[in-house]
Amino acid sequence: MAETYATAAPDRSAVRSLLRLWPYVRPVRLRLFTAAFVAVLASCAGLVIPLVLKWMVDGPVADRDTGGVWLGALFLLLLGLAEALLFGMRRWLVARPLAHVEAEMRAELYGRLQRLPVAFHDRWASGQLLSRATADLGLVRMFLAFPLTFLLVNSVTIVFGVVIMLLQDWRLGLVILGPAVPVVVMCVYFENRYAVVARRAQDQVGDLTTVVEESVLGIRIIKGFGRHRTQARAFRELSSTLRGTELSKARLLATIWAVIVTLPELAIGAALVLGAVQVADGELSAGTLVAFLSTALALRWPVDSIGFLLAMSQEAATATERYFEVMDEEPERDAVVRSAPAPDAGLRFDGVVFRYPDADPGSPPVLDGVDLHVRPGESMALVGATGSGKTTLTALVPRLHEVTAGRISLDGVDVAALPREELRARVAVAFEEPTLFSASVGENVLMGADDRAGDAELERALAVAQAEFVHALPQGADTQVGEQGLSLSGGQRQRLALARAVVGRPPFLVLDDPLSALDVHTEAAVEAALRQVLAGTTALIVAHRPSTVLLADRVALLSGGRIAAVGTHHELLRDNPDYAHLMSGTGRQEDDR
Ligand SMILES: Nc1ncnc2c1ncn2[C@@H]1O[C@H](COP(=O)(O)OP(=O)(O)O)[C@@H](O)[C@H]1O
Ligand SMILES: [Mg+2]
Repeated sequence: MAETYATAAPDRSAVRSLLRLWPYVRPVRLRLFTAAFVAVLASCAGLVIPLVLKWMVDGPVADRDTGGVWLGALFLLLLGLAEALLFGMRRWLVARPLAHVEAEMRAELYGRLQRLPVAFHDRWASGQLLSRATADLGLVRMFLAFPLTFLLVNSVTIVFGVVIMLLQDWRLGLVILGPAVPVVVMCVYFENRYAVVARRAQDQVGDLTTVVEESVLGIRIIKGFGRHRTQARAFRELSSTLRGTELSKARLLATIWAVIVTLPELAIGAALVLGAVQVADGELSAGTLVAFLSTALALRWPVDSIGFLLAMSQEAATATERYFEVMDEEPERDAVVRSAPAPDAGLRFDGVVFRYPDADPGSPPVLDGVDLHVRPGESMALVGATGSGKTTLTALVPRLHEVTAGRISLDGVDVAALPREELRARVAVAFEEPTLFSASVGENVLMGADDRAGDAELERALAVAQAEFVHALPQGADTQVGEQGLSLSGGQRQRLALARAVVGRPPFLVLDDPLSALDVHTEAAVEAALRQVLAGTTALIVAHRPSTVLLADRVALLSGGRIAAVGTHHELLRDNPDYAHLMSGTGRQEDDR
């Protein structure tokens, strides 16, 4: 989890960030505009109420006309009902389309995460990605549902209200407008401060998610080493930092509220006193003062709410930014390398150099000129000390990482020139740390084959991988495994991963120490079965134990970032002291990667 987040860019603009939402909002724009229009209507219906009041006070009330008062009251009731109805309609209009927008954005994020290269995932903490897919998208939906509409509705309402007040009495109107300038200045200042804190809070949520996720995934290690206190402390520290940030958000919000609420309130008070004096002097009708003040009071909510509407918009802008930080990453692309086909069939590495993208630029590359030719149908064992780059080399074949220089070819075709789908259909892989998904055993294995493969293929693969234990599981191959299912032992999982690798009968097989967790007897059985599979396959197999090495036709020794020697096990044992030393251990070198 190296780079967790970029801090807010200096030229960031909330509006520019939010505008990027348009492509997602476009499909539902009609509903959204209708909803906004309905809300403006509702809000303006509210502004007619004071005018009716004025008519009532200056007319029927002054004339003691009971019928007129009743009529006015009925009118007010109807206006109130209309307002409530219109607001309800707005809610109904936006709810579904916005849930759709959120789902759509989430699906695209998920799709992008799947297509981003492994190097991206090495760089980003999973919690940061999770929080983007959940909390941030929730904020965006909230923004579209509420602040977006109401910033518009409130602005229109305020403009209308102010015009009405100025028309009633322009002097009182100016008194009310007095605080507008300081309020606007405060809002701008607040916007900028709030943007910074909001970004910090959202990033901290991501960090916290990462800790929680790691604690859950690593629960065995945490318990086994009695580390729950350390983990709990890390959690507490992060969550208290987050609480601090949330508190400063709250403080900022409180300040702006205080200003936004107090200043207009003072202005209303002043207008009340002035207006009362004018009415007493006979310069103003009582009805006008009532209308004026009730308009001012009706505007209180639109003005007061601007503070938190701006805050919500700011948070949504930050969330949008965080969303697009991922969406803007380059996905894996099918390069248009058109190199001349090499004459050799089989799997070839030519001058392959590789440095991890996040490695220190000054450090030597992990692989520094690997030349190796695995002949068609041959199986080659790859041997090397821990950390020599075996896993890295195997990951380059299915292009989980891209070579820094040099080329890898399958039957003469540069892997960089193969469409990814085709490449991954030709090469099957199994890694040392097998991952099983939350699905049935059968589904997990058949993932390695095309959709036509059925039970017969499954059985064959399970037999090769000596994974007959599957039949003893509660529901056989239909048993659920993975996070939401039955837990399997490391050796069992390795065998399923191996079955997944061989089930599609791939022409090329790349295995990164696939038998490391097996006991000696099972390993021997797997090897015997694997020998048949390997007969028709070009394979590169990372190996530690002499028994696995013996499966292969030849052995390549990886050392110092290059292939130091190639030969049969016995030749190397005889001629290469380094190899002899590697193989003379107790069988298996602990490989912790
Ligand atoms: N994702 C990564 N980012 C940066 N460096 C890595 C990464 N994975 C492995 N390395 C480094 O590359 C080197 C080779 O690792 P690896 O290929 O796993 O070795 P082996 O499988 O032979 O034990 C090690 O020094 C390791 O620290
Ligand atoms: Mg390894």
